Amino acid sequence: MPQSHIVKSNANAFKSISRVLPGGVDGNAKYFDNMPVASHAWGCHITDVEGREYIDYCCGYGPLIFGHNDPEITSALANSMINSGILYGLPHPSIEEAINLICDCIPCAEMVRFTNSGTEATMTCIRLARGITKRDKIIKFSGAYHGTHDGVMISTKLSENDPDYPQGQPSSAGLTKNTLQDTCILPFNDTEYACRFIAEHSNEIAGVLVEPMLGNYGLLAEKEFLENLRNITKDKGILLIFDEVVTAFRLNLGGIQKTSGVIPDLAALGKAMGGGYPIGAVAGPTKYMDYIAPHGSKVASEVVWHSGTYNASPVAMAGVIATINKLKNTDALAIMDKNSKQLRQALNNLIQKYKIKGVITGDGPFIQIFFGIEGDITRPEQLIAADTEKSKRFHQLLLQQGIFLIPGLRAYVSAAHGQSDIDQTISAFDKAFQML
Ligand SMILES: Cc1ncc(COP(=O)(O)O)c(C=O)c1O
Repeated sequence: MPQSHIVKSNANAFKSISRVLPGGVDGNAKYFDNMPVASHAWGCHITDVEGREYIDYCCGYGPLIFGHNDPEITSALANSMINSGILYGLPHPSIEEAINLICDCIPCAEMVRFTNSGTEATMTCIRLARGITKRDKIIKFSGAYHGTHDGVMISTKLSENDPDYPQGQPSSAGLTKNTLQDTCILPFNDTEYACRFIAEHSNEIAGVLVEPMLGNYGLLAEKEFLENLRNITKDKGILLIFDEVVTAFRLNLGGIQKTSGVIPDLAALGKAMGGGYPIGAVAGPTKYMDYIAPHGSKVASEVVWHSGTYNASPVAMAGVIATINKLKNTDALAIMDKNSKQLRQALNNLIQKYKIKGVITGDGPFIQIFFGIEGDITRPEQLIAADTEKSKRFHQLLLQQGIFLIPGLRAYVSAAHGQSDIDQTISAFDKAFQML
């Protein structure tokens, strides 16, 4: 176990960090009240600077599918660093090994380019779609989050003012009018609206970017919605892009394209694929990926630029190879599924027991809790009425009991969560329901 660094209180440490780190957080979405400041982590546990332990359902916002410091993943990373070097700027055999593993899992993948984040992956998918189709506009769905680049920082949250489709709402200051005009926002899971809009504007639309599970809300795309998007985009020469940064290698190895049978033209990958080491990737068939090749079949003016100093470092490749091999060769995904079912069932029982209005969304090891609404949730608009104040209270009550969920009450279950962690979590849920 690593040494603990118990130096000060969370409040003092947070105040001190906030003097140099805007908001005290390295990502705006990560802020919540009374933030613990981390000291170290092990398995599914994080210890704060006061020495308090939390069962971690944040999992680094998704990537830590085997928890913190999994021996196999960590030694693969460390071995690569110590024995192979950190960065070459040259192709190396482990890139091919990692890509072959990805192509075995992800149906649309024949070729892959690596990035260091999901943000870069969706950004590159969009540029590819524009380069291939020579059209400007992109369709994105309301409430979807695809990273922090300008073109997708629009309508990332559902709001009461929605829908004023296809006009999106900026989710950040600093976006240009052109960016807002080039990203059309449509309602998620509304097949009729999407098909009508795409048919009417097809000659302007380069790509349709869709999260097959709306990650901010744990809402799965209906199969019929994805199938219709597939059919109309194929018909109109528009690229269908699946953002599987969250879903692939976590819900299952092949993502929702595998389970739905709807194969996109391009996929953005990331998060769990690297086991915690920074990673992202663009995957697609050779006919599209060839547009990125600097010496491929395209003339210079048609080549789509993609580059990055740290792309496909040997260490990142070691993380991808170790993670995918471990997911393939162990029953980690099945165990995560079993544990998630237990948590989901317990939450549904508690909703009944305490007669509190609530719903549990998500799929497999991705669980999200909403209060103030009930019934079957199929459209994101149904979630606008959710009681966010109650969610914040529940989050704080869990934190006080040593359970760390993502703010907004999202939980990633990892393979490091054991039965005793699940039992402890369920009894903390019970207490939090009592006190809500
Ligand atoms: C669906 C989805 N796409 C893209 C991203 C961006 O990935 P990253 O944070 O690695 O840039 C995220 C991050 O949360 C995401 O949830």
